[in-house]
Amino acid sequence: MIRSVKSYIGLERESGVEEFFSTEPAARCATNAADAVSVDSELGRLKREVSECHACKLAKTRLNVVFGAGNPRAGLMFVGEAPGSEEDKQGLPFVGRAGQLLTKIIEAMDLRREDVYIANLLKCRPPENRPPLPEEIQACRENVRRQIAIIKPKVICTLGKFASQMLLKTETTIGELRGNLYEYEGIKVMPTYHPAYLLRNPHDKKLVWKDMKKIKKLL
Ligand code: URA
Repeated sequence: MIRSVKSYIGLERESGVEEFFSTEPAARCATNAADAVSVDSELGRLKREVSECHACKLAKTRLNVVFGAGNPRAGLMFVGEAPGSEEDKQGLPFVGRAGQLLTKIIEAMDLRREDVYIANLLKCRPPENRPPLPEEIQACRENVRRQIAIIKPKVICTLGKFASQMLLKTETTIGELRGNLYEYEGIKVMPTYHPAYLLRNPHDKKLVWKDMKKIKKLL
């Protein structure tokens, strides 16, 4: 446990934290610290596994596996569709045009990208940004399931049809799903429109903002 606490303090120090104040009993602090370290190491282990994945043919064309990024202890996790060209090059989720819009949405919620966790249903780019194929979703679904189980966010915001329909095991359209609250393995799920859709249909941004306000209340 002491080793876990030291390692946790080291991680916090690296991210700029200089002092700790706590009113919690020392034992509870130590347990929280140990939990935090275990989340980091479990997520790291999963990331290493996924980075060598060859379960579908996207492994042949990808430049990088885009595992996910952000705070592994976040209360809010976004799940998008699949990496695009820029994400494939950088190995990071939502860093292209749709990603810039997602960043603005997050900031409008008074959060920063570093406060949330951002991942995709597929971890590898489909060529020419075509929609994910059923066999690719099938091959990757266990990765996102395990990622969610480790992070255990309070709320998942699914972006667009593919992530929403896969997590909620439904064929209902995103137009009908969005704005309503669902559950996935005991975690609240709010489906909303994908930022790439909003780039083509900016008049629907107000609906997404409505959904974000509902999420804010839940956090
Ligand atoms: N669209 C997605 O669904 N995910 C990304 O990472 C980028 C664009």
